[in-house]
Amino acid sequence: MDLRGKGILLTGATRGIGRETLKLLVGEGAKVAAVGRDEEALKEIRMAYGDAVFPIQANLSDPKQRERVVGMAAEVLGGLDVLINNAGFGIYGPFLNVPDDRMRELFEVNFWTPIHLTRLAVPFLHNGGVVLNVVSLIAFVPLQRWAIYSASKAALRSFFMAAREELRGEGIKVINVYPSVTRTDFFQRAGSDGIRGTGSVSPEKVAKVIVKALKRGKEEVFVSFWDGILAKIGFLAGPLATKLVK
Ligand SMILES: NC(=O)c1ccc[n+]([C@@H]2O[C@H](COP(=O)([O-])OP(=O)(O)OC[C@H]3O[C@@H](n4cnc5c(N)ncnc54)[C@H](OP(=O)(O)O)[C@@H]3O)[C@@H](O)[C@H]2O)c1
Repeated sequence: MDLRGKGILLTGATRGIGRETLKLLVGEGAKVAAVGRDEEALKEIRMAYGDAVFPIQANLSDPKQRERVVGMAAEVLGGLDVLINNAGFGIYGPFLNVPDDRMRELFEVNFWTPIHLTRLAVPFLHNGGVVLNVVSLIAFVPLQRWAIYSASKAALRSFFMAAREELRGEGIKVINVYPSVTRTDFFQRAGSDGIRGTGSVSPEKVAKVIVKALKRGKEEVFVSFWDGILAKIGFLAGPLATKLVK
């Protein structure tokens, strides 16, 4: 897909992977409706990109706000060509210590929001549109202390693997991107004391992979060759990783 002049709805645009993706999309000549909660960050985005970006403040855990977001985005962009489901968060720690409503909120944002936004966006995306989901490598290998987050991303992957075939009939392509550990505020916000291991990548790198995936139209996308291998052996080696990685 040539991104010049395309109308893109991007969630989680205020920081991390989404913020870097926004920068690249504007560079490609797209018009972007950029969604987040952080008012200050949305103001900065407005200042940095002017008319190429339409910031929309919304808490996506609320279904009514999701309806407002798609309506506004389609109006200001004059339609929609791409929906990027990027907003999400993690919860780190033993699940027995996590309040029930917090776990439900995580599923609301990480799982139900991409599905609901897709349903709302389908009438605009008909014939040639794209839904791109920022999933996670954790969808293949669940990790202890990340139980509800692991489950949300595995469910997201599973849903869109099946929905992809249904949406193909509508002329809509589904792309799933599976980043591994990426250096953003995600870990601190999840209550984890930092990024372990040396294999982390920058959000700029993940953003480049997302934009390349949109341009090339590949449906299952890993950030590196080794991530792809890890996902493939996840079924066999996954239980060991789940036991060992803490
Ligand atoms: N970092 C990693 O290692 C990694 C690896 C694999 C996949 N991922 C996935 O990549 C995506 C982006 O993560 P990131 O690393 O860039 O994290 P991040 O820096 O914490 O950014 C998360 C984004 O999601 C938005 N968001 C979260 N909850 C929201 C809500 N209720 N309503 C509206 N917006 C909400 C945030 O908006 P506000 O700040 O404005 O609230 C922010 O823009 C997530 O889906 C994450 O699961 C991350």
